[in-house]
Amino acid sequence: MSDEPHVRVERLVKVYGDRTVLHGVDLTIGRAETLVIIGGSGAGKSTLVRHLIALERPTSGRIVVDGVDVSALNDVELNKARRRFGMVFQKYALFDSMTNYDNVAFPLREQTKLPEKEIRERVMAKLKDLGVEHAAKLTPAQISGGMAKRVGIARALVMEPELLIYDEPTSGLDPVTSRTVDDLIEEMREKFGVTSVVITHDMVSAFDIADQIAMLIKGVVVAQGTPAEVLAVDHADVQRFIGSSGVESSRLAQRRPRRDARELAALARARTPR
Ligand SMILES: Nc1ncnc2c1ncn2[C@@H]1O[C@H](COP(=O)(O)OP(=O)(O)O)[C@@H](O)[C@H]1O
Ligand SMILES: [Mg+2]
Repeated sequence: MSDEPHVRVERLVKVYGDRTVLHGVDLTIGRAETLVIIGGSGAGKSTLVRHLIALERPTSGRIVVDGVDVSALNDVELNKARRRFGMVFQKYALFDSMTNYDNVAFPLREQTKLPEKEIRERVMAKLKDLGVEHAAKLTPAQISGGMAKRVGIARALVMEPELLIYDEPTSGLDPVTSRTVDDLIEEMREKFGVTSVVITHDMVSAFDIADQIAMLIKGVVVAQGTPAEVLAVDHADVQRFIGSSGVESSRLAQRRPRRDARELAALARARTPR
């Protein structure tokens, strides 16, 4: 079994105009692990994750996914690689002119040659998982923001990607719905060995689902470690950020039992030999 991490970010620098947004970020994410990225707004979190799935090119540095430098791929190679990535956007980016059903079917129709019958089964299964199957025939504009978010998540999950990025998946959701999103992130990991990167301001969620937490301040990773390590880190800004959320070490004892990432990764590999 390979010890190569699923994702390795090396000295990633991103400059927009005269503004440096990422100052040499280093990160590694193990297969079937969940990395949670925390940090104030404008810290560069969304910019960082857009690089992971090659929606942006680094100014300098490398992003290695599955041993491949995605920042060096040409467009054809990138399109192929992107099938294995999924992203749940901050703004749920659905097509308002299509029904929710067609929104979720869209990536399957674009990127696979599956017959409509099979597409129908997969789309309805995902809409059902997210509890929005009754909204299949409506458009995103006809449902609430929380429901639209679920449809957006269903669309990201329907391709069953190996790497899933969630950019503030619970923002604007009530606490109960937020916990169902956490459950879903966990379920994708347990069922399919998916590697997840989750940006969140929700510290309850962060400390529940993370294998690793990284804190970004002004484009610099100031702390990365297990939830217990990050809680104990000797850094005033990190402590202030976590402290203001009211999460404390007692929270860690409430974490649900989790299966080992290596075990899940090995299972996923056995299922889909490459
Ligand atoms: N395409 C872009 N062009 C110029 N500046 C950008 C672009 N994308 C992000 N930025 C800037 O980079 C900084 C970090 O943004 P972002 O990654 O969205 O932060 P976060 O997700 O942590 O709130 C912000 O100041 C933002 O204005
Ligand atoms: Mg953001």
